[in-house]
Amino acid sequence: MTSEALRAATATMREAGVDDLAVRVFERFHRQLEDDVTGTIPEATVEPLTEVRALGDVHPGEDAVREALARTVVVKLNGGLGTSMGVSGPKSALEVRDGLTFLDVIARQVLALRERHGVTVPLLLMDSFRTSERSLEILRAHPGLEVDGLPLDFLQSKEPKLRADDLTPVRWPQDPELEWCPPGHGDVYVALQTSGVLGTLRERGFRYLFLSNADNLGATCDGVIPAWMAAEGVPYLAEVCRRTANDRKGGHLVLRRSDGRLVLRDSAMVEPGEEDAFQDVERHPYFHTNNLWVDIDALTARLAESDGVLGLPIIVNRKTVDPTDPASTPVIQVESAMGAAIETFEGARAVEVDRSRFHPVKTTNELLLVRSDLYRLAGDGHVEAVTDREEPFVDLSSPYRLVDGFEERFAHGVPSMRECTSLRVEGDTSFGAGVVCVGDVVVGPDVGAVPDGARLGGDV
Ligand code: UTP
Repeated sequence: MTSEALRAATATMREAGVDDLAVRVFERFHRQLEDDVTGTIPEATVEPLTEVRALGDVHPGEDAVREALARTVVVKLNGGLGTSMGVSGPKSALEVRDGLTFLDVIARQVLALRERHGVTVPLLLMDSFRTSERSLEILRAHPGLEVDGLPLDFLQSKEPKLRADDLTPVRWPQDPELEWCPPGHGDVYVALQTSGVLGTLRERGFRYLFLSNADNLGATCDGVIPAWMAAEGVPYLAEVCRRTANDRKGGHLVLRRSDGRLVLRDSAMVEPGEEDAFQDVERHPYFHTNNLWVDIDALTARLAESDGVLGLPIIVNRKTVDPTDPASTPVIQVESAMGAAIETFEGARAVEVDRSRFHPVKTTNELLLVRSDLYRLAGDGHVEAVTDREEPFVDLSSPYRLVDGFEERFAHGVPSMRECTSLRVEGDTSFGAGVVCVGDVVVGPDVGAVPDGARLGGDV
């Protein structure tokens, strides 16, 4: 039976010209919402993933690496709205280091990879209606990046935000664009099909997709992985990292007891009351990085079997229609996660990678770190740590939370962090040029400005 709310939602999508496949995927999620499907994964139904081969132990040889890279495509997820950092366009258009945006750095990484191995690895962004224009403008400034016959991006679909009270599409006449959102990065499997990109890549002989977040500059394309997949016939592979005490919240892979398959369990999928087991870094020693590798032939076969719908688990995201106004109408955004597709592939694997492959920028605290002298940007676009020391803990107060506030207060550059073990800024402070932080630094709530060249240590 189709409810009025579902009918209204799908009619809205069709009127807006959303592709039929995307509407079908949305329809399935909407029915799950109406049936109160929670999508949780209880601890008793899974086994922890404890034994994972390390990437450093895989040595396929340079020829196999080149051969695999010649059939590999780099896809960067770039459709998110970056609301938690207050970005209105793509987050990847922010300056990350040395006057370069995330996308400039990604372009450099891909061009350097091509040069090093003598192969033409294409770069494709998955953009959304909000991110495409600005992102393409940045990429087009890199001559030679575009590969003949392939676009630089493909667009994901959009879906209506649903009123939390009755699941009908929300109306927001003051800014109708806010009535829509991208459907989460699980939409990549839909968007690859509806854009025709998957078919084109296959026809042109490409075999491996390397998918990762545009805000993780550590996710460079390492040809050892597709070479290994080719040698062992692996259809899908997820990169995982060893968890430390600080990594309690992110998602992880577990083995489903009923069929032994790997499944992704994100924090939203934890059974109420089981948070302790989920956060136990000894019980579940790896976290999921969202760096994924997919065999295009295996994906095509799975999609053909399921009429294009992988049937990923639902993620229910509760927000307000205007994310900057907590008093605006409460809405639900139904989403799915790209990494959840692991459960649909028999023979999918995980590989343990070094922490340097996971360096996302989700908050301005992380932006400060990556911009600081703890890192340097190599000519090939690699962001390299300059010391072996653990990253300092950074906690900036609310005036710095959104990017504009952050830029204003660090207009003369971020402090030197090489000698710093932690930095907490409690109030609203403007930093001068050449400030150095040493040891544990707490900048108290009454400090209005830190002068040029100041050396900060202890309580300020
Ligand atoms: P996140 O889940 O971290 O979200 O996305 P976000 O959209 O960047 O940030 P917030 O939560 O709004 O602040 C992880 C990656 O997936 C992409 C993002 O662009 C980011 O690279 N993404 C997310 C998409 O491509 N499409 C989506 O619908 C959602």
